[in-house]
Amino acid sequence: MMEKNAKIYVAGHRGMVGSAIVRELQRQGYTNIITRTHKELNLTRQDQVEAFFAAEKPEYVFLAAAKVGGIVANQNALADFMYDNMVLEMNAIHAAWQNGCKKLEFLGSSCIYPRMAPQPMKESCLLTSELEKTNEAYALAKISGLKYCEFLNRQYGTDYISVMPTNLYGPNDNYHPTHSHVLPALIRRFHEAKVSGAESVTCWGDGSPLREFLYVDDLANLCVFLMNNYSGNETVNAGTGKELSIRELTELVAKVVGYTGEIRWDSSKPNGTPRKLLDVSKATALGWTYKTELEDGIRLAYEDFLHNPMRAER
Ligand SMILES: NC(=O)c1ccc[n+]([C@@H]2O[C@H](COP(=O)([O-])OP(=O)(O)OC[C@H]3O[C@@H](n4cnc5c(N)ncnc54)[C@H](OP(=O)(O)O)[C@@H]3O)[C@@H](O)[C@H]2O)c1
Repeated sequence: MMEKNAKIYVAGHRGMVGSAIVRELQRQGYTNIITRTHKELNLTRQDQVEAFFAAEKPEYVFLAAAKVGGIVANQNALADFMYDNMVLEMNAIHAAWQNGCKKLEFLGSSCIYPRMAPQPMKESCLLTSELEKTNEAYALAKISGLKYCEFLNRQYGTDYISVMPTNLYGPNDNYHPTHSHVLPALIRRFHEAKVSGAESVTCWGDGSPLREFLYVDDLANLCVFLMNNYSGNETVNAGTGKELSIRELTELVAKVVGYTGEIRWDSSKPNGTPRKLLDVSKATALGWTYKTELEDGIRLAYEDFLHNPMRAER
């Protein structure tokens, strides 16, 4: 259990996940949270990372910093996604261990699982067959991070864990027109279509892929819960265990945003993996479950989009 005054470093605290973890820690009464912006501490720079950990010696680390993006960003910058993420992870995890960090939690993503993994995907399907090509570079970097935690545990007896969230959304999401994930991208597109009075909105693919979405504050609650209640080499899936089609999601976002025009589908654009649903029985068995239903979460995310223009312009 983390003491309420334990020194806790949240890496990536201005991101969607990191900011939610800081909010959750504060809500639970943790008082000694340390943070650095990307500008103050570039985690891909080993010299900076070593100096920071040697000076601060955090007892606990939530590693929520990463170079993150949707399908287009991933495909256009394969090398950058692999290099930045792998180097950042190795630097931070290694320096944490070298400086006596008691427990570290590494944030990955469900894209680490094979493209054709049996659904819903269990933690044990990791590395059983080929990855989805569109985000292979990112997935390989994330697999390396979680494996490095496992190998430190096995070689040096550390207590480093990892969590693999499904698609996330909520406050501080990235609404960039080409570099965002599907749900924030839809919020932005439908909002702009509503404002401009557009007659139709064209979406990518045919709307058939099945996806799962978790509100980021629920993930943050799980992250703190796991830090206090879970140890083990195998990762823990974070999701709701519920899925819907991209077409259903699109209609839900249009409803929340108040867009009443036509929705069209451009099937010349890629769909991505046909179905992605996490098996969340491990988190459930540990005593955790999500709280925020999708429509309520989209409402909260849209409120944030409307009142957070800086983030929307990133
Ligand atoms: N978003 C999702 O749907 C989703 C789903 C599953 C898993 N995750 C995981 O959750 C984690 C965080 O994702 P997110 O959505 O919160 O991303 P995000 O909003 O883009 O935040 C990432 C944060 O990391 C920082 N960062 C990136 N490179 C850095 C570097 N070299 N040095 C220091 N800081 C750096 C960024 O700072 P700058 O903005 O200043 O660069 C940003 O604050 C990732 O590991 C991701 O795989 C996210």
